[in-house]
Amino acid sequence: MTQLDNLFSADRAHFMHPSTHAHDHASGALPGRIVTGAKGIRIEDHEGRTFIDAFAGLYCVNIGYGRTEVADAIYEQAKKLAYYHTYVGHSTDTIIELSSRIIDWAPEGMKKVYYGLSGSDANETQVKLVWYYNNVLGRKNKKKIISRERGYHGSGLVTGSLTGLPSFHQYFDLPVERVKHTICPHWYRNAPTGMNEAQFVAYCVDELEKLIAREGADTIAAFIGEPVMGTGGILPPPAGYWPAIQQVLKKHDILLICDEVVCGFGRLGSKMGAQHYGIEPDLITIAKGLTSAYAPLSGVIVSERVWDVIDKASQEFGAMGHGWTYSGHPICAAAALANLDILEREKIPQNAADTGAYLLAQLHAAFDEHPLVGEVRGAGMLAALEFMANKDERRPFDAALKVGPRVSAAALQRGLIARAMPHGDILGFAPPLVATRADVDQIVRLTIEAVNEVAAQLEGATTSA
Ligand SMILES: Cc1ncc(COP(=O)(O)O)c(C=O)c1O
Repeated sequence: MTQLDNLFSADRAHFMHPSTHAHDHASGALPGRIVTGAKGIRIEDHEGRTFIDAFAGLYCVNIGYGRTEVADAIYEQAKKLAYYHTYVGHSTDTIIELSSRIIDWAPEGMKKVYYGLSGSDANETQVKLVWYYNNVLGRKNKKKIISRERGYHGSGLVTGSLTGLPSFHQYFDLPVERVKHTICPHWYRNAPTGMNEAQFVAYCVDELEKLIAREGADTIAAFIGEPVMGTGGILPPPAGYWPAIQQVLKKHDILLICDEVVCGFGRLGSKMGAQHYGIEPDLITIAKGLTSAYAPLSGVIVSERVWDVIDKASQEFGAMGHGWTYSGHPICAAAALANLDILEREKIPQNAADTGAYLLAQLHAAFDEHPLVGEVRGAGMLAALEFMANKDERRPFDAALKVGPRVSAAALQRGLIARAMPHGDILGFAPPLVATRADVDQIVRLTIEAVNEVAAQLEGATTSA
C-alpha cells in the first residue's frame, strides 16, 4: 500500500464526514479527494490536479486562497496571545477593533456583536436572543420563528428546523414545534401559472399574512431569511420582495433576522445583502466571509432596538446565561481583521459586483436558449443554472436521473468545481470574489462542455429507449 492508500483507508475508517453518504464513503464507492493546497481561485488535490473552485469552498473563501497576509496575522496573534476568554467583560485588542469594524460594515442602526464559531451556532444564538427579548418584555407566547421553505440556516436543533429542506428534518424529529415555514420566493418554480413577478410578491405577502393569522400574531416572534437564498438553490428574490415582507413584519411587531452568512462581506457587491436590498434588520447573522474561512468565526449583530431591551433586562435579571468558551477567540479575530483589510483595500465587493454581473451575462448568453436549461439566475457573485426536462412546461427531470449531480461531475472531470445544489437539478456558482473576467470565461466554457456532455447522454438514452 502506498502512503496515499493508507491515508484514504484511514479516512474511510475513522473520519465521519459531514453531509456524506456513510456507506458509500466507508466502502470506497464514493471517490474521496484529499486537498493539498490552494492559491487564488484554484485548489490542488492529492494527484496534483488543479481545479477552479467556482464555489469558494462552501461560498466562504471571499478573498481567495493562499493570502499569506492572513496567515501572518494569525501567527503573530498566536505568538502574542493565543487565547483568553471574553466572559465577565474580558476583552482583547483584536476583538475590540473587530467589533467596531463589523458595525462599519453593517447597515444603519446596529449596535453590538456577539461571537461564535459557525453560522449554525450564531443562528442558535439568534433564536435564544429573540426568546429572551420577548420573555423580558413579558410576551411569553410570542416565541415562534417563521422561516422559508428552501431557506438554509444551519443544521443544529433549532437551526436545522429553520432550514427549510426536508433532508435536514427527516429522521431527526425536526422541525421543532416553534418553527413555521412560509413560501419560498422563487417566481420561476413557485408562482401559480400566469402570475407576473409583482403579483407573485403580493402572493408571497399574502401567504405570510395567512400564516401569521393562522398562528396568531401574538405568537410570532421573528422572521429569518437570507437576502438571496443560497443552499436552497441560489434564489435572488423578485423585485420588491423585501420591502413588502418588511411591511408585514413591522405591522405585526415581528423581529427580522437577516442571515448574511453567505451574502455578507461583499458577495452581492455590497457590504452586506441588507444594503443591497434595503433590508432593515433587527438582528444579523454573519460567518463565512467574515474571515474568508481562514479561521472559524461567526457573529450575531444586535440592533440598538434589541440591545436596549437586553441592557435594561440585565439591570433587573443580571447577566444573561449564554456564552461559548471560544466567543471572540483572538486568533479568529486577527484573521477577520486581516481579511477585512484585504476586502477594503482591494475593493473586493466592487469586483464582486462587476465580475458577478459579467458572470451572469455570460451564463445568459450561453444558456438562455439551451434546451436543458430552464432558468439562469444570479446576484453579485452568486449564480445558478436550473435544468428542466421540458422548459416550456417548466417540467423538472425525474430526480433519479440526477441531472444536476451529473453536470457537476462532468464539470469536475474538466477541472471545474460547481456545486450540484441539494434541492432540484441546479448547478450553483459562488466563486471567490477575486475571480477575474478571464476566470469567468474559463468557468463558462467548461460549464458549456459539461452541460452538453450530459445533454448528449440524455439524448442518447431517449433515442436508444
Ligand atoms: C445562510 C446560511 N446560514 C447559516 C449557515 C450555517 O453555517 P455553518 O455551516 O457554519 O454552521 C449556512 C451554511 O452554509 C448558510 O449558508
